[in-house]
Amino acid sequence: CMKRKWWMSAVGYQIYPRTYFDSNNDGIGDLKGIIQKLDYIHELGVNLIWIGPFYKSPMDDNGYDVSDFFDVDPVFGTLDDARQLIAEAHKRDIKVVLDLVLNHTSDEHAWFMESRSSVDNPKRDYYIWQKGKVDQDGTLLPPNNWGSFFEGSAWNYDEQTNEYYMKIFSNKMPDLNWDNPKLREEMYHVARYWLDLGVDGFRVDAIAHLARDLSFEDSPLPLTIHGVAPDWSKFSNRPELFTYINEFHDKVLSQYDCMTVGEVGGGAKLEAGLGYAAYDARAFNMAFNFDHCWEVNRVLDPETNKMKNVTRVKDLKRIFNYWIEGMNQKGWLPQYWLNHDHPRVISQYGDPVHYHRESGSMLGSVLLTLPGTPFIYNGEEIGMTNVDYTDVNDFNDVWVKNNVKKLLEHDTMENVMDQLRRTSRDNARTPMQWSSAPYAGFSKVKPVQKEISNYTEINVEKQLSESNSILKAYQKLIHLRRFSEYSDVLVFGQFELVQAEHEDVFAYDRYNENKRVRIIANFRPFTVKFDTPEGKIIFTNYERDYSVGLELKPFEVIIIELKHD
Ligand code: NOJ
Repeated sequence: CMKRKWWMSAVGYQIYPRTYFDSNNDGIGDLKGIIQKLDYIHELGVNLIWIGPFYKSPMDDNGYDVSDFFDVDPVFGTLDDARQLIAEAHKRDIKVVLDLVLNHTSDEHAWFMESRSSVDNPKRDYYIWQKGKVDQDGTLLPPNNWGSFFEGSAWNYDEQTNEYYMKIFSNKMPDLNWDNPKLREEMYHVARYWLDLGVDGFRVDAIAHLARDLSFEDSPLPLTIHGVAPDWSKFSNRPELFTYINEFHDKVLSQYDCMTVGEVGGGAKLEAGLGYAAYDARAFNMAFNFDHCWEVNRVLDPETNKMKNVTRVKDLKRIFNYWIEGMNQKGWLPQYWLNHDHPRVISQYGDPVHYHRESGSMLGSVLLTLPGTPFIYNGEEIGMTNVDYTDVNDFNDVWVKNNVKKLLEHDTMENVMDQLRRTSRDNARTPMQWSSAPYAGFSKVKPVQKEISNYTEINVEKQLSESNSILKAYQKLIHLRRFSEYSDVLVFGQFELVQAEHEDVFAYDRYNENKRVRIIANFRPFTVKFDTPEGKIIFTNYERDYSVGLELKPFEVIIIELKHD
């Protein structure tokens, strides 16, 4: 059953350290840069930060490829900087959550170097090794046809022992073998080390993949252009992984007053969600799924027979409702619009060109009034957009680097660029737009990831000076959620969709014994009809007189307290 915990009423903020703020002007963001921005973060009103990985890493996947879990990568700073960051955040009542990468390491991690050195090395079974197959012509092939997320096969050949290691992400990210109790103990040690250093919890990376189909049989799915089967079921949400997580919980997490949110990704159903994050699951406190972030704005245009962007509002509501109803009274949810793996939400469900302020503040209103702990992704609070890159080399993401050649064999550069500007993970990884100074005020030198040219218009400095900016809306909404008379109902109240069948408006009530608050959000760039009720206006993003039954303006949001019955 539910006990009230500090992280339930927290408002989270995700920081991508590489492009947040560069304090030493080497073009890469760093921990000292985050420390310098803690006052800004505090003023925004959030009280929990999740910082992306800053462990030692060759940066094949921007730090998710860890080569030493116990140290800070020099591009980000030192262990002392990490200690200072934790202390400075705590001084401001901000909790600090790190990214814990349990599924894989870098191939430059000491364990892997040992593991690959010989078949009888004591660390051999820290990773997953299999012999290849030989076809009729005598060609050596991977052990099976499974595909990986980032490039081709889920296996990579290693000469030293003439075997393949499993890697569901890039070749430089060998998968750890969670079936091995020794390896599990090592990872628990990593978690304890950071908790003992004072962090308040973890966002646990790629948690859905810790168990694999150990029969290693081929998948029957049709092969992709890369010649592999994209069969994630072979290594996602498999029942065995819950025993690992339960053990992790019992041996480590339950010993601390910490918060954990697992990254479950796509394809998880409610049953798995409850396994990861039910109150009594002995697992995590919450689990991120991707269901609402991906492609809920793609429809087929019958005129051109091509896909175009139109938000499928009813589907979006159905997805949110599925998780909220399903977890109701059983477990807690995180809420978020995007993270560093997804395109910018304003470019996806808003309209950054015609209704930047309106759609940005509308999306923020929904995020901050849904049940669950909200996580804002850095830059979202000023309505940062997808990239405007015109050169394919401006994209840095490992997925793009590994796949662009193949994509170009099958499509034109124009189409590939369109696709990348719409979907690439780099959309969310551009330098934080602090001001209209060169490089968006992120650094004094050319940043590691190219800035978006709209920083002269969209930046923190400007929005701090305007009373009706997206940033000011986020501040007000966070305040409403954390400190107002509506705090209790917004954090702990029940949820109920209003006019679920409406095609354009996402409307719902949050209610408890004392209050009923209705959130009415127009997801369209045009005026729509909606039965706006009588009540007290708590927040809107248009300045105008309110009346019952008024039409909603483009991307208008109204938060209203209804008369309680
Ligand atoms: C999920 C992380 O969010 C993503 O950025 C990373 O590439 C993969 N896990 C692999 O660690």
